[in-house]
Amino acid sequence: MILVTGGAGFIGSNFVLDWLAQSDEKIINLDKLTYAGNLQNLSSLSKDTRHIFIQGDIGNTQLVSQILAQYQPRAIINLAAESHVDRSIHGPEDFIQTNIFGTFHLLEAVRTYWNELESIAKQNFRFLHVSTDEVYGSLTRNEPAFTEEHRYEPNSPYSASKASSDHLVRAYHHTYGLPILTTNCSNNYGPFQFPEKLIPLMIANALARKSLPVYGDGQQIRDWLFVTDHCSAIRRVLEAGIVGETYNIGGCNEKPNIEIVQTICTLLEDSFPDSAFHKLITYVKDRPGHDRRYAINATKIERELNWKPAETFETGIRKTIQWYLNNQQWIADIQTGTYREWIEKNYLGLLK
Ligand code: NAD
Ligand code: TYD
Repeated sequence: MILVTGGAGFIGSNFVLDWLAQSDEKIINLDKLTYAGNLQNLSSLSKDTRHIFIQGDIGNTQLVSQILAQYQPRAIINLAAESHVDRSIHGPEDFIQTNIFGTFHLLEAVRTYWNELESIAKQNFRFLHVSTDEVYGSLTRNEPAFTEEHRYEPNSPYSASKASSDHLVRAYHHTYGLPILTTNCSNNYGPFQFPEKLIPLMIANALARKSLPVYGDGQQIRDWLFVTDHCSAIRRVLEAGIVGETYNIGGCNEKPNIEIVQTICTLLEDSFPDSAFHKLITYVKDRPGHDRRYAINATKIERELNWKPAETFETGIRKTIQWYLNNQQWIADIQTGTYREWIEKNYLGLLK
């Protein structure tokens, strides 16, 4: 079996659902259930014995050691993190705690576990760390996209804490020989994304006929990756990635924010022809230290592991909008806080 951390979050829950749709290999899901963790995302698995959910902190070495000893996973996918840049600006502490200290404590537990494995299991074990393109800093409009060799130049408390965790993971390979893999991916979008991030926030606000806040001039560029493409890339790196290597994962979809928001408005107007969503667009004060452009050069993963995204932005954004239209209760449960009650209602007695 494999262990995923942060599997109740946006990418994590997509990863768990995708994994079990393609394989019968069990998956243990360790998640602290912060505000971003939502077990409703995994409600379709509530009776599926292939999914073992454990509420807990990656920084709890004792708990992690106990899980590793009991379940003996062949691999760990580390997705658990504080992930929202704006929150990191308002309060960096949780980012330092989880992304730096949490990763460190997790690595310590994993190192001890891995050292005691017998030789073949030890050789085959993998620790796959999921990181972000934001560690590379900001690009100007004409600079080439980030390769794996790009220097680290994080600009926000979020990206600095992720950069820190990447360095720790690298050091555990270099110093202790831990068989690690690191992936750095661009902005994800798709089902189950918490409506604090750009795309789900704009959809949720538009559906509620609230203003659509665009930071600064709206010309910041992100490289959008549909979440199931990210999941397939992680599976591919786990399967065939070379130990110690880093793989950039991108969607080949660079777009300025304002274009994203306008596209969402246009597509929503297909479903609600009487609503003038574009009129809700409101330029607001810029984010402090706002990175201007991220872009991923994903030729390494394409060339070496034969991975390519399946979705274009045009197909992915339509699927995403349709998912949010079909799941307005999911948004409402987050907005009212009801999603927090799901744990008690549906997992009572099932939580380890
Ligand atoms: P998310 O915020 O939606 O989910 C994070 C999950 O981690 C939540 O379920 C939360 O409860 C859990 N968690 C937080 N702290 C924890 C702790 N101390 N112990 C155990 N669980 C904890 O994040 P996401 O968007 O799904 O991102 C997942 C990973 O991918 C993160 O490492 C993030 O840095 C990285 N990433 C995300 C994006 C993106 O666009 N979303 C892009 C690049 C990289
Ligand atoms: P976000 O989804 O927070 O991801 P990140 O900061 O990790 O790239 O934001 C994506 C882009 O959208 C970023 O340039 C900030 C911008 N943005 C807005 O303009 N308005 C908003 O309300 C939000 C949440 C983001």
